[in-house]
Amino acid sequence: MGYDITGKTVLVTGAAGFIGSHFVEEAVSRFPETDFVVIDILTPHAGRLENLAPVQEMDNFRFIQGDICDVALMDEVMKDCDVVVNFAAESLVDFSVRDAEQFIRTNIDGVYRMVKLGMKHGIDFFLQISTDEVYGENLGEPSKENAPFCPTNPYSVTKAAAERMIFAEDRAFGFPYKIVRMCNNFGPRENLHNAIPVFTCRAVRENRIPVYGDGRQIREWMFVKDAVEAIILVLLNGGIGEVYNIGTGVRIQNIELARRVARILGKDESVIKFVPDRPGHDVRYAIDSSKIRETLGWEPRYSFDEALERTVLWFASNLDTIEPSGFSRR
Ligand SMILES: NC(=O)c1ccc[n+]([C@@H]2O[C@H](COP(=O)([O-])OP(=O)(O)OC[C@H]3O[C@@H](n4cnc5c(N)ncnc54)[C@H](O)[C@@H]3O)[C@@H](O)[C@H]2O)c1
Repeated sequence: MGYDITGKTVLVTGAAGFIGSHFVEEAVSRFPETDFVVIDILTPHAGRLENLAPVQEMDNFRFIQGDICDVALMDEVMKDCDVVVNFAAESLVDFSVRDAEQFIRTNIDGVYRMVKLGMKHGIDFFLQISTDEVYGENLGEPSKENAPFCPTNPYSVTKAAAERMIFAEDRAFGFPYKIVRMCNNFGPRENLHNAIPVFTCRAVRENRIPVYGDGRQIREWMFVKDAVEAIILVLLNGGIGEVYNIGTGVRIQNIELARRVARILGKDESVIKFVPDRPGHDVRYAIDSSKIRETLGWEPRYSFDEALERTVLWFASNLDTIEPSGFSRR
C-alpha cells in the first residue's frame, strides 16, 4: 500500500536550488490536493528564487525564506507538516574542501534538528536526499545500499553523518525515514559551480573548457527529471526505513564529458584545458540501482546524449540571466 499524500502537507527544504526546484515544479502540479511548503535560506551560491517561478502562483504552494537550523522557525513550520523532503544542503564539494564549517552546520546540524522536531511532531516520515558519495571512491563493483560508508571529502562526510544521525534516531526512538542516494544529477538550473554548467559557460564566454587533473575521473550521470520521478516514487511507494540508490549506470570520464559539451557547442576539442586537480579528488563513483528498479519499477527515461544537449543549450542560451557578473571557478 502506497502513501496517500492527498490532503497532506509536505515540507520541502532547499527547493530554490537545482534538484529541489525541479521536484517542486513537478509535484505541485501533479498533486493539487497536497500543500507544499518550501523553506530555503537562499544562499548566494545556490539558492535562486527564480527557480521557483513556475510554481509561484499555484494555490498549493507557499515559500518561506528561512534556515533549517532555526529551531524556532522549524518548530512552527513542522508542527503542521506530515512529511519532510530534505534537499537543503551545502552541496559544492570544492567549497567543502576549502572550508567545511557551513557544511557541518547545515548538512549535519540542520538534519539533526529537523529529525528531533520530526519526532516531536510525529511526522509520517522524513525523506532525506543523499548521495552516492557516502560510499566513497569506488573502483570495483557498483555499491549496493548495504555497502559500507567510506566518504572521502568534507561534503560527503557531512552527508554520511546526516544519514547516521537519522539511523540513530530510528534505532533509539523508531524515527520514520526514507533515504535516496543519487548519482550526479544534471539539467537546467544546475548550480553554476558544477561541471556541466562550468564547461558550458566557460566554453561560450572564454572559448575554454577547464578540466580538473587528467580528466580521467568517472562519474555516473542522471538527468534531473529522471531523479524527480524516482524521488516521487519513493515518496509515495518507498518503504519506511528503506534506502534506495538512484542511478543510471551511465558512467563516463570527465574528459569525455568535456568533449561532448564542446561538440554540442560546435567547438573544437582544443578548447579543453587541463587545470590543477581538486585536492583528494575521487577517481570513480558507481552505484547499483537494481533495488529501486526491481521493487518500485523505476527506470530512467531520458537518453544521456539528448538530455545533455538539452542542458548545454539551456545554459548557453540563458547565460546572461543566470551567470552573476565576475563569476569564475577554474
Ligand atoms: N546535484 C547532485 O548531483 C546531487 C547528487 C546527489 C545528491 N544530491 C543532494 O541533493 C540535494 C539538492 O542538491 P542540489 O544540487 O539541488 O543543491 P543546490 O546547492 O543547488 O541547492 C541547495 C539548496 O539548499 C539551500 N540551503 C542551503 N543551506 C540551507 C539552510 N541552512 N536552510 C535552508 N536552505 C538551505 C540553498 O539555498 C539551495 O537552494 C542536496 O542535499 C545534495 O546533497 C545532489
